[in-house]
Amino acid sequence: MIKFLPICLFALTLPLLNRGPVSQPDKWNQEETSAADLFQPVDNMHHFMEYISEPSYKGLKAALATQPKGRKGWSPVKSGALILAETSALVAERVPEGADAEKATQWKQISLDVYNASKALYGSVGDYEQAKKHYSVMIDNCNRCHQTFANGKYQLKK
Ligand code: HEC
Repeated sequence: MIKFLPICLFALTLPLLNRGPVSQPDKWNQEETSAADLFQPVDNMHHFMEYISEPSYKGLKAALATQPKGRKGWSPVKSGALILAETSALVAERVPEGADAEKATQWKQISLDVYNASKALYGSVGDYEQAKKHYSVMIDNCNRCHQTFANGKYQLKK
């Protein structure tokens, strides 16, 4: 019996091998489905800020504390600026519940101001003076949103 054991074990694994990837209904082909329907927020704004915005901000602050040197020195600046610019679009979409039209516009406008400053920071890689200028404008705008929508908490240092 023992000599058939490998064959028996192989036979047992056959159904597993045959299964392939778990199939999902092809949601992209449903006409009325938009990306916004499928890419729902994974977590709340507090965790968005804590795990996406804050690490990028800390990386930028450290990298710009002194003149960055070469590709290696500027790499964290590119990373932080790009993450904060691209994720501003997601922030803009997540207007707090219960915000009236005026507040909603304000939320989106400040997100756009952060986007523009981080995009300019991304574009200024290699030029320390310009980078510091755009970084400073970006932080002013982060803080402006926190003054307006987080009761003045989380005033970030440059
Ligand atoms: C459009 C509004 C808005 C913008 C723009 C914004 N934030 Fe925030 N941020 C919030 C709100 C609201 C909170 C408070 C969330 C809560 O606690 O419910 C917050 C909280 C935070 C916190 C505290 C998180 C914690 O763990 O305590 C950090 C850090 C932060 N933001 C970083 C940033 C950075 C860096 C930027 C700019 C690159 C930025 N935020 C831009 C709205 C914004």
